[in-house]
Amino acid sequence: MVSRRGFLTGLALVPVAYAAGCSIRPPAPGSAAGTATRPLPIPPQAPSTLGADGVRRFALRVQTGSTKMLPGNRTPTWGYSGSVLGPTLRARRGEEVAVTVVNDLPEPTSVHWHGMHLPAAFDGGPHQMIAPGAQWMPRWRVDQQAATLWYHPHPHGATEKHVQRGLAGFFLIDDEATDRLDLPKDYGVEDIPLVIQDRRFTADGGIDESDATDVGLLGDTIVTNGIAGAHFTVTTERVRLRILNGSSGRLYNLALADDRQFQLIGTDGGLLPEPVALKQIPLSPGERAEIVVTVRAGENVTLRSLPIADRDGIDRAAEFGFDDSFDILALRAADTLRPSAALPAALVPMSPLAAANTAPTRTFELQWFMINNHRMDMNRIDMTIPVDTTEVWSVRNKDNWPHNFHVHDVQFQILAIDGNPPPPALSGWKDTVYTAPGATYTLAMHFADHTDPTFPYMYHCHLLHHEDQGMMGQFLVLAPGQRPAPMRTDMGAMGHG
Ligand code: C2O
Ligand code: CU
Ligand code: CU
Repeated sequence: MVSRRGFLTGLALVPVAYAAGCSIRPPAPGSAAGTATRPLPIPPQAPSTLGADGVRRFALRVQTGSTKMLPGNRTPTWGYSGSVLGPTLRARRGEEVAVTVVNDLPEPTSVHWHGMHLPAAFDGGPHQMIAPGAQWMPRWRVDQQAATLWYHPHPHGATEKHVQRGLAGFFLIDDEATDRLDLPKDYGVEDIPLVIQDRRFTADGGIDESDATDVGLLGDTIVTNGIAGAHFTVTTERVRLRILNGSSGRLYNLALADDRQFQLIGTDGGLLPEPVALKQIPLSPGERAEIVVTVRAGENVTLRSLPIADRDGIDRAAEFGFDDSFDILALRAADTLRPSAALPAALVPMSPLAAANTAPTRTFELQWFMINNHRMDMNRIDMTIPVDTTEVWSVRNKDNWPHNFHVHDVQFQILAIDGNPPPPALSGWKDTVYTAPGATYTLAMHFADHTDPTFPYMYHCHLLHHEDQGMMGQFLVLAPGQRPAPMRTDMGAMGHG
């Protein structure tokens, strides 16, 4: 029994036709095929221009609009250069990119490039707010391996609201390895970006921002790429799903409804050393997984989220949505399929940044809305890191709440979980990791370059409500001899660039 008042109220107000799709209880097998009546929208690839100076330029307009998230109703939403979500930005390793961001919202926002290695002044965190009507022009050289990254707002205290209203987009990086590997790459056909979010709607079709739980807003309706009830027609033997958990506080445990295996080929920071066959993949807010699903002509396969099995220490798991099950996306294979190459046995090699038993450089304790007993203070630098160093961070969830841990500027390797080697799904490059209550995660990361005495990077819990409540800290990366400059107490880099 789901006891949340808000959930019951929400359900009672949702028209019957939608309630059938609001599968908070395990749906009957095959039910997605019945309720998934709308083709999955594919975010367009953002146009860009390549100047004579070699810079690839993009433009994003942050704007208000309305979207048929539910069939029938229009929901007031926010989007990047559109009514909801944003176009997929795409660039190659080594390229210099510049993005002109114009804020047409009635309030300040920022655009953070989640997973990107870039100068702190262009990171788009809470120190790079863009006032209504203002523009911001970050510019950097893409210097990391091919990966599925994303962008979203990061205004201190208001990130959950901004993301709930629809602000999120993909940023894909390509490189020579992805050119070389025979993976599904035809965008929108066999290489599909898929952002999974949960929403609760008011009677008149608005996004219900009331009644947050201790993990934030939990919805009873799944929206994929911005709509509820989506299906996708698969026309190739293999389809690659670049899945992003773009939810505020919901954990998913993704599986295919008939329990078949899929291949995990990539995580937050890029491709794995080799594909890993799995039947389930957990994904906490902000994390990505690239999976390849093999289908037979004419069949229906449903991507589903199962209850979260690993609930140790979370006595309020039901309230936090751990028991819920949802149909996420109906995959319908066409009657004839274009052949796909077998997956390569080897993808992208990875060498360890540090030995598994390396003593931690720093320790972080997660509890309530705090990291190391502190809540975020925009004017406090929590630590400084000498550039070109590899650090080992020990992160422990001391709480009986679920949390996760995200670090800006870097991708990290999980050296150990409670002293044991991580499972294969957590053995690749990560920028966000789920932290189970009581467990300790040992992370290794390298702060290669990009020093700045003024602008910090963030580390935080990516449950957006926790982040908004101050479960976040700030670090500077400093050159030898560099000292922290006084913090700016205005809105930071408003109008910067
Ligand atoms: Cu995706 Cu600091 O965030
Ligand atoms: Cu980030
Ligand atoms: Cu948290």
